[in-house]
Amino acid sequence: METPFVFGKIAKNENFTDREKETAQLATNFTSLINTIIISPRRWGKSSLVSKAAETALNQKNSLRICTVDLFNVRNEEEFYTLLAMAVLKSASSRWEEAVDAAKRFFRKLVPKIILSPDPQNEFSLDFDWKELLQNPDEILDLAEKMATEKELSMVVCIDEFQNMAGFDNPLFFQKRLRSHWQQHQHVSYCLYGSKRHMMLDVFTNPSMPFYKFGELLFLEKIDTESWITFIVERFSATGKKITATQAEIIVRLADNHPYYVQQLSQQVWLRTIHSCTDETVYLAHRSLVEQLSLLFATITEALPDNQLNFLKALLAGEKALTSTGVLIKYRLGSSANVMRSKNALVEKDILDNKAGEISFQDPIYRYWLAKIFFRMDPQDNLLEANG
Ligand SMILES: Nc1ncnc2c1ncn2[C@@H]1O[C@H](COP(=O)(O)OP(=O)(O)OP(=O)(O)O)[C@@H](O)[C@H]1O
Ligand SMILES: [Mg+2]
Repeated sequence: METPFVFGKIAKNENFTDREKETAQLATNFTSLINTIIISPRRWGKSSLVSKAAETALNQKNSLRICTVDLFNVRNEEEFYTLLAMAVLKSASSRWEEAVDAAKRFFRKLVPKIILSPDPQNEFSLDFDWKELLQNPDEILDLAEKMATEKELSMVVCIDEFQNMAGFDNPLFFQKRLRSHWQQHQHVSYCLYGSKRHMMLDVFTNPSMPFYKFGELLFLEKIDTESWITFIVERFSATGKKITATQAEIIVRLADNHPYYVQQLSQQVWLRTIHSCTDETVYLAHRSLVEQLSLLFATITEALPDNQLNFLKALLAGEKALTSTGVLIKYRLGSSANVMRSKNALVEKDILDNKAGEISFQDPIYRYWLAKIFFRMDPQDNLLEANG
């Protein structure tokens, strides 16, 4: 039997829960062509939300087309332009012959080689001369607008993992280039999303940056406990197994409401449950998840310099005044400037999240592992006590 939980994939249909408000808002932005920027830490559900909202919006508006470019693994501007051109051509055309025809008509200066593929999923690809492409990407940047206008369509271009463009050769120049084209589009809007909060905030809220005030900002939160409990109980019952609301709540608490981990832990619990779940099963599944990840966590931890590790320890111990003399000495944190550096480095490494000055661990299982296994700390709070 297929397990009723998914993680590491886009959550769709019965695997998708909550987010009614965000879905409705984003779908409205899509149908009304309002640019949107979505920010949340990794694995909180950005891609799933965009996919859900896209489905909703497409049902509401026949003339709408939505395409996605994922910058994961995209290392330079040239690759980005190539992917963008393909995504736009495919989503604005109903058949691949039409897309190939459009490619021939819309590219005048930049003539790509069109490669027909034997793979029916991926009927053709484009090959541009990269030198020309860098000098002259205008035709690609305006392709969506041109095609939408000609075909009387509205288009939304979604760009996932947008923060990756920071690794391009000249990210600032790149952003200026995009903005100068995109702000003129009348039939196309953009949805840009990514997980590096500090970097995304800088790109979109810093007045000196090209994308300042480009669109509406949406900060995705975790999913609340009530929705999770209903979801977990329902997924168990749909597959003929039982779990109580209280047990579901323990799962949510152990996974700290983190969407990916709630699904993963639920799956581990489900696999261990024959008919009815027990509290013991939940804790066992949690311990086993921690074990599964411990090698990864050890590798991450070994790479941390002492200052940063000490900073994490102080944080786990519940210290609030991290730059006070007492704390600096007790945890050997160095100077208060060192503390700031450690904090920033840990945020940069995606270990901590800084939400308007409020510092928290991004990964609740890592937090648990670090406190309980690595530092062997006494149970400090409910999360640690829960596992006895
Ligand atoms: N609305 C939801 N309902 C149920 N589960 C969800 C939901 N959103 C996310 N998840 C869970 O979290 C996982 C990660 O979701 P998703 O890939 O959408 O997040 P993301 O923020 O795009 O992640 P990344 O930063 O890695 O790109 C999913 O595989 C699923 O297990
Ligand atoms: Mg994603």
